[in-house]
Amino acid sequence: MLRETCAIRYVTPLREGGSLPGIVEADDLGTYVMKFTGAGQGRKSLVSEVICGELARRLGLRVPELIRIRLDPVIGRGEPDQEVQELLKASGGLNLGMDYLPGSIGFDPLAYRVDAAQAGRIVWFDALVNNVDRSWRNPNLLVWHGDLWLIDHGAALIWHHNWPTAAASAARGYDASDHALAPFGPDVPAAAAELAPRVTPALLAEVLAQVPDEWLADEPGFATPDALRVAYADLLADRAATIGERVTVGAPTPDRASQAPGWLTGRPDQPSGAAR
Ligand SMILES: Nc1ncnc2c1ncn2[C@@H]1O[C@H](COP(=O)(O)OP(=O)(O)OP(=O)(O)O)[C@@H](O)[C@H]1O
Ligand SMILES: [Mg+2]
Repeated sequence: MLRETCAIRYVTPLREGGSLPGIVEADDLGTYVMKFTGAGQGRKSLVSEVICGELARRLGLRVPELIRIRLDPVIGRGEPDQEVQELLKASGGLNLGMDYLPGSIGFDPLAYRVDAAQAGRIVWFDALVNNVDRSWRNPNLLVWHGDLWLIDHGAALIWHHNWPTAAASAARGYDASDHALAPFGPDVPAAAAELAPRVTPALLAEVLAQVPDEWLADEPGFATPDALRVAYADLLADRAATIGERVTVGAPTPDRASQAPGWLTGRPDQPSGAAR
């Protein structure tokens, strides 16, 4: 089970994060990036963070330590921002913390080289968990003390949003064309040969045991949190066996024209072409 602490001070929101994570200090004197159960993305994004983060770390990739943080919403009382106030109010109890890496910088492919073997391991891992949130637009990779660190796995494991269709969804391949590390010639076959045998039932059970019961409870179709843990583990075991053969790395898609209306972008509106 992840270590548990208690938040003692809300420091500041991280506005670049869509889920409005915040920096908090905890009673172990640590500083953490806190992801809130009350955020719009819901508790499943926290489940995904724990499963992916703990799995990646056990496969030898760098992920900042993940912990459980108890929150008493009163610590946000003096917080002037209403959005933050409401988020804290909606997130009393257990939340997720990630060790804050002070002085880390966002990954920049022009400033940081990644070799094909390392790129392959990260792309293979992202294919395994179906992480579509490590694109060149938003790499969710930090560089800290000269090393690459993986963050933000909340949008992975897409199949857990619809368990009745999960097996079919997880059987699909992974398009890495837009992946932040695609330009580094990721050696996915080598990574698959190295990492797939390490995704054993024992390793997956250890990873799933890190997810707090209360984030797994009351899932329709599953009588207990443990039954749901088994479903996650079985699916990842199946996918690990073959996903390496189903990763495609093509040309990156160009940045799409903004969908914002012309009065906002200063450009004439695009004809939609769609029948109304
Ligand atoms: N452990 C960390 N140490 C230092 N900075 C971090 C850490 N985790 C996140 N950050 C910073 O906070 C930003 C937001 O974090 P993150 O991407 O996890 O949030 P999110 O709400 O899931 O974002 P997104 O909009 O990408 O979905 C990151 O881009 C990074 O700049
Ligand atoms: Mg992010």
